[in-house]
Amino acid sequence: MLQSRFFRVFLASVAGLAVAGVIAWLQIDSAGKMPPAPAAVGGPFELVDHAGKKALDSDFRGKHLLIYFGYTYCPDVCPTELTLMAQALDRLGPAADKVQPLFITIDPERDDPAHMADYVGLFHPRLIGLSGSPAQVAVAVKAYRVYAAKAPGWEKAGKDYLMDHSSFIYWMDDAGKFVAAFPAGSTPDGVAARMKARLGG
Ligand code: NI
Repeated sequence: MLQSRFFRVFLASVAGLAVAGVIAWLQIDSAGKMPPAPAAVGGPFELVDHAGKKALDSDFRGKHLLIYFGYTYCPDVCPTELTLMAQALDRLGPAADKVQPLFITIDPERDDPAHMADYVGLFHPRLIGLSGSPAQVAVAVKAYRVYAAKAPGWEKAGKDYLMDHSSFIYWMDDAGKFVAAFPAGSTPDGVAARMKARLGG
């Protein structure tokens, strides 16, 4: 049991490293030192916000985005990262007005809009939760190179299954283009400082 838990964490880490590799490549690429990456992070999605309204990626043009993919039943990583995202936003000062924080569920079976509404309010008054049908969520998950899968044993876990998932806070600019991905262990001050360098304030 313990062994399989370690193995799952190992697999999730490898998946996370693969994502980090793509991201590192994109960052080098944006500095003009390598040929264009084969695939970018980000892209069109059509989801449903926590008020039950349709939400397209294009609805957020004009704002920088901080996006975190996770699920509301997550016992540890998601609350930690959403807290970090909220704290970083608060440290931006006036520049925070240029930034929209988003939480996109990887678990649409359980995270309906009503449930998302209760959850996002725990972290930040401006945090918007996005859910949708499994097919709609799958489009967003794929576009952002997110690794997400039900943890082994889910067949027996009923409604209490866990999800394994990669964990990055994505920063997209006001034109919807990828800027950076902040990994677990980033600090609110570090994230805010990097964003202020571009956004001012
Ligand atoms: Ni999580």
